[in-house]
Amino acid sequence: MTNDDVLIIGSGVAALQLAVKLTNDLNVRIITKEKIRTANSYLAQGGIAAALGVNDHPSKHIVDTLEAGRFHNNQEVVQEVITAAPDLIMHIAQQGEIFDKKRNGELFLGMEGAHSEKRIVHGGGDATGKNVMEHLISELGQKRNITIEENVFAYELLLNAKQNRCIGVKSKTSTEAIQSFYGKHVIIATGGCGQLYTYTSNAKTVSGDGIAMAYLAGADIVDMEFNQFHPTLLYINGETKGLISEAVRGEGATLVTDDGTQIMEGVHPLKDLGPRHVVSQRIYEFLKNGKQIYLDISNIDDFEKRFPSITSICEGNGIQIAGGKIPVAPGSHFLMGGIKTDLMGRSSIDGLYAIGEASCTGLHGANRLASNSLLEGLFQGERLSKWINETCKVPQELEQNKYFIHPNQERVLNLPDVQQIKDLMMERVGIVRNKENLKKQLAWLNQYKAESIHLDTCSPDDITKVFMLIIANLITDAALKRTESRGGHFRSDFPKEDDHQWLRKTIIHNYKQGMEKCNEHIETALAT
Ligand code: SIN
Repeated sequence: MTNDDVLIIGSGVAALQLAVKLTNDLNVRIITKEKIRTANSYLAQGGIAAALGVNDHPSKHIVDTLEAGRFHNNQEVVQEVITAAPDLIMHIAQQGEIFDKKRNGELFLGMEGAHSEKRIVHGGGDATGKNVMEHLISELGQKRNITIEENVFAYELLLNAKQNRCIGVKSKTSTEAIQSFYGKHVIIATGGCGQLYTYTSNAKTVSGDGIAMAYLAGADIVDMEFNQFHPTLLYINGETKGLISEAVRGEGATLVTDDGTQIMEGVHPLKDLGPRHVVSQRIYEFLKNGKQIYLDISNIDDFEKRFPSITSICEGNGIQIAGGKIPVAPGSHFLMGGIKTDLMGRSSIDGLYAIGEASCTGLHGANRLASNSLLEGLFQGERLSKWINETCKVPQELEQNKYFIHPNQERVLNLPDVQQIKDLMMERVGIVRNKENLKKQLAWLNQYKAESIHLDTCSPDDITKVFMLIIANLITDAALKRTESRGGHFRSDFPKEDDHQWLRKTIIHNYKQGMEKCNEHIETALAT
């Protein structure tokens, strides 16, 4: 039994930023499903957006964020995060050689899709996430109040029913024993759910665990229909093999067919750097018709030097950079929805917080602007730390229950294969959706009754499947309800945005309060 001031589940940028910024008199514990460096943030190639250029201004970055989010964003949140970005980045830049600089020592600013100015700060060319994570890990190493536990799979939030407060989490250790961790503040920072789909840029650990746990505990879950598909993952023999950053198109690469025809001509004014949903849908149309699409990189000088990680992914998969063409396909990349929180990360359950991709503050709206997510994680980690540093001074009763047991026997469940879940989500609830497929998928998912499975006797692999089914259900249900297309949610049977019916309306799911709450909360975001 452990009892901490702050219990953080997950180890991405938001989690580590929070831990680093908490005061040294707080006991902080980070539990993470695999290794601290297996976090999705570690893979982030694209950088961090901030209006730092001489011709740039936060107001321009705000407009780009709202435009990409198709005005579904929470405008106050957008204003606050984007305005804070330049100081936040400059502060980190002063801590060491984390970001790439020009010869004159100024930060190098790159371009990415749907940005109207060059404002993307990168580290190690295309290894921004790794650089920022390593910086935070080294900061953690200097703090004695933080314990990190790896290979601990959190699966059930513990609630104090009397106070309707989250007090901890149950987890399975590597020997599959059940261990409980208690904390005055319990923070979910487990990322999104990229692994729900066949094609994804996400780390293999990112299957929606934190969101599913919060849902089962009764937290509000919002905007699950908004899933971002990144246009360019390396695509070989029908499989995706990793991300080819948008920065490659920012440096001038274009999307072409076998015969060199540029496919984004006439589709969007920003062409290859148009919003991700527009570019992904365009590539998808070609792939569906059996045509391979490539990134033509022949006009980028010193590609290997500018993009060392991408070069190594390509060459490791038999694609030579000198050939000038990289085969690509879109894949699931980012979840705009998640656990409904305020900017501080507070969820609808006392004591339970969510930060990073697991949370939904409304910053990203219906589609995230490139390089706004590491920014959000860093901002939220810092903001929540300030609040906890203050509120933790208020004494609270500590939980004393001991809980460390080996379940007697493992239950054998009738669950589908992970691959089947992914393939059906890709086919029926992927880049292009329609009523018929969504209904088919809901019927398929409902046969498993995932919500009512008791998890203590399940193996971690089965719990992962249960969580994937729960998340799949939330996405499919929300996608069926939203009878329009907006941002990352595209319905071929409702191909246009329907501002009259849907502008600023959010779909909220609440397991404990049932569907009434879900219907009740199809309401204007402004009123919440
Ligand atoms: C990319 O490098 O294309 C991804 C950046 C992001 O998703 O923010």
